Amino acid sequence: MALPANFLDELRARTPLPPLIGRKVKLTRNGRQWKGCCPFHNEKTPSFYVYDDHYHCFGCGQHGDAIGFTMQTEGLPFREAVERLAAEAGLEVPKESPRQVERERRAKDLHDVLAAAAEVMQRRLRLPEGRAALDYLRGRGLTEETIARFGLGWSGGGRGALIADLKPLGIEPRQMAEAGLVKAQEDRSDSYSDFFFNRVMFPIRDRRGRVVSLGGRILGDGQPKYLNGPETAVFSKRRNLYGMDFAREAVFRGKSRLIVAEGYMDVIALHQAGFGGAVAPLGTALTPEQMEELWRVSPEPVLCLDGDAAGFRAAARAAEMVLPLIGAEKTLHFATLPAGQDPDDLIKAKGAAAFEAVLAAAKPLSSALYDLMADGRPLGTPEGRATFRNDLAAAAGRVPDRSLAAEYRRALLDRFFESTRPARPSGGAARRAGARPGAKPPPRLPPRTPPQPGQARVEQARCLLAIILGQPWLLGEVDEALALLDLPEGPAAELQAGMLDWHTQKASTEALLDGRDSLDSGTLLSHLGSAGLDQACKWATGGAGLPAAASTEAQPGEALDGWWHFFGLLRGEGALVEDLRAAQAELTAATGPAEGAAAQARVIRLRRALLALRRGESELEDAAEGAGH
Ligand code: UTP
Ligand code: MN
Repeated sequence: MALPANFLDELRARTPLPPLIGRKVKLTRNGRQWKGCCPFHNEKTPSFYVYDDHYHCFGCGQHGDAIGFTMQTEGLPFREAVERLAAEAGLEVPKESPRQVERERRAKDLHDVLAAAAEVMQRRLRLPEGRAALDYLRGRGLTEETIARFGLGWSGGGRGALIADLKPLGIEPRQMAEAGLVKAQEDRSDSYSDFFFNRVMFPIRDRRGRVVSLGGRILGDGQPKYLNGPETAVFSKRRNLYGMDFAREAVFRGKSRLIVAEGYMDVIALHQAGFGGAVAPLGTALTPEQMEELWRVSPEPVLCLDGDAAGFRAAARAAEMVLPLIGAEKTLHFATLPAGQDPDDLIKAKGAAAFEAVLAAAKPLSSALYDLMADGRPLGTPEGRATFRNDLAAAAGRVPDRSLAAEYRRALLDRFFESTRPARPSGGAARRAGARPGAKPPPRLPPRTPPQPGQARVEQARCLLAIILGQPWLLGEVDEALALLDLPEGPAAELQAGMLDWHTQKASTEALLDGRDSLDSGTLLSHLGSAGLDQACKWATGGAGLPAAASTEAQPGEALDGWWHFFGLLRGEGALVEDLRAAQAELTAATGPAEGAAAQARVIRLRRALLALRRGESELEDAAEGAGH
């Protein structure tokens, strides 16, 4: 018997995970969560994280809640795990009531009735009466295998045919009405008419593969084009997604991303083209309940939308709907199809590779949200910009998780500053040259090293290096960028080389899986000391004028921001713009997800450095202007 969801919620709420897991695994605090060595695979450096309500191993991917953990580590079936936890939490496991038993028996009956109906219709597709429907499906490019896999069928012509077919199986019209297959006629409750007739039939299965309803498409043109079964005890349009039983499996096996398309035919065409992770809502906009279903399968499903105005509105509605639901492992990506084409059309016209390209160009929610919100905004006036900025901040504020909300705020405002900032002319001479008709275009690259008084540069390098000395884990994030810098000769350049050496050595001797703890400040200082860089370290950390980011107590975000700030100053705007352009090109060219993620991370960081630099500079300009008057 299924236990009531509210009882299970209560049980989970009363069973905090860290103490439960702490009995089996030695846990240490790590910010707001706990971590330890994963009990499900062999490891020496901890990658097993425990949050208030779930655990996750970044090493082996094991994931679950208190009940799952108890089942796994005690080898108990679900019900017994629940009983054990309930006893500890002082909760009583609800007994099966006769009414519940009855309800479940009826539900099972309904599933059987629906499965029998789907089977009858599937058989009819192969009879002479189903010939036109079969030809229609073949004409739309479906293979025999696909038609069989999705159990497609022909409804029959109505007039009580389905009732007659199911009668020999002992299925009563009353049950068929409960299953949504027939409806009672208005004037006579003992007389029923078929719900579906003259339609190609699509059985709708739940995530466990049980038939819960059917949808039917008219052959050719006519209204309504699709008809879906009504809400019943076993079917809810808000909760189910077409294709979920297959998609779950495909995504779990890593064969496909989880893709949300619009219609039945899209799902089927996608599966046939190798995208086994395709699902569709049932003729309505995506609901919060469906999002939760999707997240049980993948943390970042991709929503595919038409590139026309209706698709834009659907995207806006979906973004609006998910914002209050997202979390660190619950988000949504947005892929945009060419206008007027659904996935089925696109694959038919241009093949699977074309759809693959659409998927690869999918945007994360934060960036889709910005684009949606920016559309049609008047940004030419301070008032328009202020309104937009407030709206962006308000949107970020709807994200429930506080640190995620802060990240959204930052991502949205970064884009805002980037796009509302007037383009900087690259120099008076170049501008004049550019303005002369027929003249050579101005040099594309601004000077590599901006003119800088030497002493300021040395001091900036000192700050940048001191931040790493305080928080050596940063090297894992910034090593490439650090290597790019041309630092002043002397202690700065020596320290830079020493740190990079140490980091490469370390990376090659141990997988830097969990750099944050193994790389403490003392270890790095003593290594540099033994490499003869004692004096250089003293130079970097001694003396006044270091930023708060250089403290060993600085928060990770603060240290990282501080580092990128000095990086921007030292690298110079022209070079940064070039770096960013190169990283963006790499991102566009990236083929695998890992490559893409790395390039994406680089783009984000460089963009941040550039913004930090420009903001800092404009403050200086403002100050200088002020002084001049
Ligand atoms: P579309 O009209 O975009 O369907 O509706 P489609 O899948 O491209 O259909 P084909 O290619 O012409 O066969 C998308 C979805 O909206 C629901 C159905 O679930 C459909 O799959 N829908 C559409 C309805 O419920 N009723 C309708 O009349 C039309
Ligand atoms: Mn279509």
